[in-house]
Amino acid sequence: MTQSPDDTTPRGPGTLVVHAGLPAPVRGEPYLPGPVFAAPLHYAGEWEGQAPFYAREGHPTIDRWEAALGELEAGEAIAFASGMAAAAAVLFTVLDAGDVLVLPDDCYFSVRQLAEQQLERRGVHVRRAPTDEAALRALLPGARLLWLETPSNPMLREVDLAALAADAHAEGALVVVDNTLLTPHGRRALDHGADVVISSDTKQLTGHSDLLLGHVATRDAELAEHVREWRTTTGAVPGPFETWLAHRSLATLAVRAERQQANAAALAALLAERGDVAWSRWPGAGCVVSFDLGTAERATRFLNALKLVAEATSFGGVHSSAERRARWGGDDVSPGLIRLSVGLEDEADLLGDVARALEDAAGDA
Ligand SMILES: Cc1ncc(COP(=O)(O)O)c(C=O)c1O
Repeated sequence: MTQSPDDTTPRGPGTLVVHAGLPAPVRGEPYLPGPVFAAPLHYAGEWEGQAPFYAREGHPTIDRWEAALGELEAGEAIAFASGMAAAAAVLFTVLDAGDVLVLPDDCYFSVRQLAEQQLERRGVHVRRAPTDEAALRALLPGARLLWLETPSNPMLREVDLAALAADAHAEGALVVVDNTLLTPHGRRALDHGADVVISSDTKQLTGHSDLLLGHVATRDAELAEHVREWRTTTGAVPGPFETWLAHRSLATLAVRAERQQANAAALAALLAERGDVAWSRWPGAGCVVSFDLGTAERATRFLNALKLVAEATSFGGVHSSAERRARWGGDDVSPGLIRLSVGLEDEADLLGDVARALEDAAGDA
């Protein structure tokens, strides 16, 4: 942060995202130095154990992005090429054959796939239950790792993170939170009992739908070292241009999140008023609103009738998007379930588009 170490003036979260990871001002230099396009870096003489010398081990642009993430998380951050690369790094670093992983049934689909396709055949025991405090607590005895995603996605179920983390710790389990939906700006999960955070920075954290990135954060120095070693040896490292773009995009996170939050609240209120929406949910934070239009046909008519909101997967971008989640299979959701990610458009335009598309989609099916 550009704040000098002897300046202890308290700063708010909006200031943090603007200044995170920036070097101290230097006359004639930019706020955020440009990306360094280099794999090897000059390194003469004997190995003295100090990166940077090769981009997979350490790199000035990626290190700066990690410093920014570390400030946001108040921990050590390790940047990855995608959210799934970050998730895999934690699961493979922590779990050995015979260990028990407690995983929500409704966590992100590819995390469940990774557990089923890779971890179970390597001897990890996977116990699954929905995102529900009592159901997950019942699976904790003997567990090595509790994985949480709260609010879950796309059903937006929530658990009391601090309470469940305390129960998991009492059983000797490590708590990992997939904090993609809220970002560390919305909730610093490490302050609520999580030992480790993973995030898909493809989503709201970078917010422009033009990057695939992820990170791991923890305050456990030994675990951070293992995760970093995993990244170096498997090569799941991000590129300098991506991390530079991410760092540039981070500065607007607080204003983007504020606008998305306001738009999401307004959309949730509109949906709650409508008799033709069977079920809707917005957890009071974040940019995702889920609702059920009953049938696949009606949901498809709704998506086709939207003019402003584009049909696309993912969430957290500046443009509003929506999809019928059941089209992919894999999630246990109703065929009419729509996941809508609220962008930065004017509230009246966004609500107008959704309301008109709901009218157009009305019918028997
Ligand atoms: C909650 C959550 N976690 C993890 C991921 C995986 O992230 P990525 O697509 O960046 O690998 C996603 C992607 O949609 C996600 O929604």
